[in-house]
Amino acid sequence: MLYDVCEDYAEALKAFLDSVRNQAQLRQPDQPREMKRIFTVQNVADQLGVSGSYITRRSKEKDFPTPLFDDSGRRLGWDYPAFLEIRKYLKRCPDLSKAVKTAICAVANFKGGSAKTSTTIILAQGMALRGYKVLILDLDPQASASYQFTSKEKSKDNPLEFGLGDYMLADYADAIFKTQIDEVDENGKVQLFEADMPDPKEITKSTQWYNIDLVESDPMLHLVEIGLARKGDNFLFWEVLKQIVDFVKQPYDVVLLDFPPSLNYSSINGLFAANCVIVPTPPELVDLHSTYEFLDAIAQTFAYYENHEFSKPVDLDFLKILITKAYTEGFPAELEGGLKLMLGNRVMTNSVLGSKVFSNTTAAYTTPFEVHKYKDRQTYKRCIDNLDLVVTEFENLLKEKVWRITDDQA
Ligand SMILES: Nc1ncnc2c1ncn2[C@@H]1O[C@H](COP(=O)(O)OP(=O)(O)OP(=O)(O)O)[C@@H](O)[C@H]1O
Ligand SMILES: [Mg+2]
Repeated sequence: MLYDVCEDYAEALKAFLDSVRNQAQLRQPDQPREMKRIFTVQNVADQLGVSGSYITRRSKEKDFPTPLFDDSGRRLGWDYPAFLEIRKYLKRCPDLSKAVKTAICAVANFKGGSAKTSTTIILAQGMALRGYKVLILDLDPQASASYQFTSKEKSKDNPLEFGLGDYMLADYADAIFKTQIDEVDENGKVQLFEADMPDPKEITKSTQWYNIDLVESDPMLHLVEIGLARKGDNFLFWEVLKQIVDFVKQPYDVVLLDFPPSLNYSSINGLFAANCVIVPTPPELVDLHSTYEFLDAIAQTFAYYENHEFSKPVDLDFLKILITKAYTEGFPAELEGGLKLMLGNRVMTNSVLGSKVFSNTTAAYTTPFEVHKYKDRQTYKRCIDNLDLVVTEFENLLKEKVWRITDDQA
């Protein structure tokens, strides 16, 4: 039977992965992730856009956040919480009090492996380092984005551990909190009972990154596809997630939605909840063709949803194609150049360059922004400088198109 063949293969593969991780002393998937990066004077200066000598001078003040020292008393730098304290101390936190709304950004493409999750994490961590408050909402049952974070608390007020999928399936005509849910008893019989669902905010959890919270992926997301389809013709299935996001978006500056590699009920909901969209695309013909199919499919299907008499169109502030895993030479580089020339500002100016730093860090469940020391400094600097450019372009897009604030207001 298929299921027992798959069970055998899955066990063999798990044993292989465990042995590779053990041999290379890599972190196991269930070990907690920690943000261990230490910020040197120069790192702090670069992040805050000031000189190293300014940080050195100010660090001598009595109330300046305390650095870490090694055993011989040499100053190493500051850990991540202390780095965020330095931002506050030097009054370099962004002020979004004049922003017109929270940015809700879909990172979407139905092409698998186009770097949706990597882009979500880069943008989340890059924005968090700049002092913004970020929520990642993992819409992909593969849970890749959730894996990069350890969510800190399980909620006392959510003892049944309702997840994103439960809220998406709750009958939102019943205001999504009080609903009927199915439960299987010890005899395998399905029971129907009334449940008071807690406030949806209970599904946001803090993570090891102080400025990043997470709505974890949920195995129930598979069932959302079946459940929403069964709700009937008059049910606006595409607006369910929007209601949940509207509920949880305070107090965040930006909510990033990591999409599954498909255009299904969950991802249609994700697009309806968003006010901006980033479409990550590697610069290969097959990927660009897939991106064309994705955009064309949205154009076809959303014409119906957005014009539905009871529905509101997507509140779109911008949609940008982001070239990922870019090359600096050869055919992909030529393709990218031609694409940018022809599509103009539909494509982000900065692309994410392909870099070994990604594979070397994901193997240990860390990310480029979490690396403290990388053996090849030049490779690391090239990668991180490029990511900073991409995050800055994204930040400027949010300021201009979504938050609608000028630089001196930020
Ligand atoms: N800039 C980059 N340079 C090199 N490798 C990269 C880069 N960005 C992403 N990758 C690698 O590409 C692979 C796929 O990336 P990722 O998981 O982000 O894609 P995805 O679109 O989220 O995939 P899925 O469709 O399965 O959700 C990963 O192994 C990742 O490490
Ligand atoms: Mg992914």
